Amino acid sequence: MNPAKDTLAMSTTEVDLAPVQTGQSITVMWRGKPVFIRKRTAAEIEDAASVDMSVLVDKEADEARVQKPEWLVLVGICTHLGCVPVGQKPTDVKGEYNGWFCPCHGSHYDTSGRIRKGPAPKNLAVPPYEFISDTSIKIG
Ligand code: FES
Repeated sequence: MNPAKDTLAMSTTEVDLAPVQTGQSITVMWRGKPVFIRKRTAAEIEDAASVDMSVLVDKEADEARVQKPEWLVLVGICTHLGCVPVGQKPTDVKGEYNGWFCPCHGSHYDTSGRIRKGPAPKNLAVPPYEFISDTSIKIG
């Protein structure tokens, strides 16, 4: 049985990145889940890339988590018990590693979305996505 066309359409989400400024984050929905998209600053990229892998809980290099260094795309669901971390709004607490913070049990994520402190066992997931132009992606 093949999925209906509207079901297929809902399984992917296209996002226009052109309006997103450096240092800004947006949230889009993909398959009912929040996806965090952040246009990282040069300092955030440098922070993420310069971490010594030995200190990471879930050891993933930043370059393995991004297709273009300035664009970080993450499923915004904490890998502990599934809460949505804060850090998307400029006024949000971003945790000790300047990425995202999950306040329910205190998980801190860095500027690559990697878990750095707290009970979450894994990094924020990177969803499947592709650039369909210089300024747009298709998630899913
Ligand atoms: S669900 Fe995020 S720290 Fe518990």
